[in-house]
Amino acid sequence: MKSEILQMGPMLPHVEAALEAAYQVHRYWEAKDRTALLARIGGQVRGVATDGHLGCGRAIVQALPKLELIASYGVGYDAVDLAACREHGVRLTNTPDVLNDAMAELALGLMIALCRRIPQADVHVREGRWLQRGYPLTAELTGARLGILGLGRIGKEIARRCQAFKMRIAYHGRNEQPYEPYEYYADLTEMAREVDWLVVIAPGTAETKGIVSRPVLEALGPEGCLVNVARGSLVDEPAMVEMLQSGALGGAALDVFEDEPRVPEALSGLENVVLSPHQGSATRKTRAAMGDLVVNNLAAHFAGRPLLTRVV
Ligand code: 8YV
Repeated sequence: MKSEILQMGPMLPHVEAALEAAYQVHRYWEAKDRTALLARIGGQVRGVATDGHLGCGRAIVQALPKLELIASYGVGYDAVDLAACREHGVRLTNTPDVLNDAMAELALGLMIALCRRIPQADVHVREGRWLQRGYPLTAELTGARLGILGLGRIGKEIARRCQAFKMRIAYHGRNEQPYEPYEYYADLTEMAREVDWLVVIAPGTAETKGIVSRPVLEALGPEGCLVNVARGSLVDEPAMVEMLQSGALGGAALDVFEDEPRVPEALSGLENVVLSPHQGSATRKTRAAMGDLVVNNLAAHFAGRPLLTRVV
């Protein structure tokens, strides 16, 4: 008898094939009546396969009394109710490390795109405006000062790449990391005042909600640029939009938003902004590796082996 799992949303074909082969899979997002589905199968489900957006809320955890493991596709697990997992003895896995390089690559890409206005210059050429005049001069990353909010595994990969751009690097986080060669700021506003670029790559938690506040953005200032590849929840988005419009904040390159995929309309009309549809980890190679971790964590759990990448 195959174990039963609940799949919250569509996954890559090779992941779905592996799950179908090993388990009796209930496809939550396809159910016409999700409450009825949970009432019918809730008592048998032992695993959940989900992702960083869909997560797994308290209501789902409570509707699955036999639930043992949630395997989430993504490094961030802010959409999973950790307290509910702990209360009900449910284990949780995520997909760390395999996405570090892809994430760092996109962060650097966004920085260069914003600094050198690559998307705007592309439009300039496409619309034939080059025939009238060249594109205005831009800023340069080389030698600029960078502040990283969250020097974790991805933050460190971003820092390494920025060293190659001869940037001067500082970071803010809960703790100083004495063996890292970068300057530590215990105070985020103070760091924002000292840097040209603020890259946000800390987890989305209750503690980091709104941490990039109006005062932090003011400290970054009219010459400063914000890059967010973490979660929209970390930034005071209305303040950011207003300051980008007025020029009180120099620029922003954003892969994540507070209410994505809905993006504040005002951002689309701004020249000092580069927008990206939450695609930090979205390469074929990285997503395949993330999918493998979901499959392999479930397999390890049901075979009684240690989980590969356990959160709780
Ligand atoms: C994914 C992410 O977009 O890993 C994360 O935390 O935000 C992304 O890699 C997401 O988990 C895929 O659904």
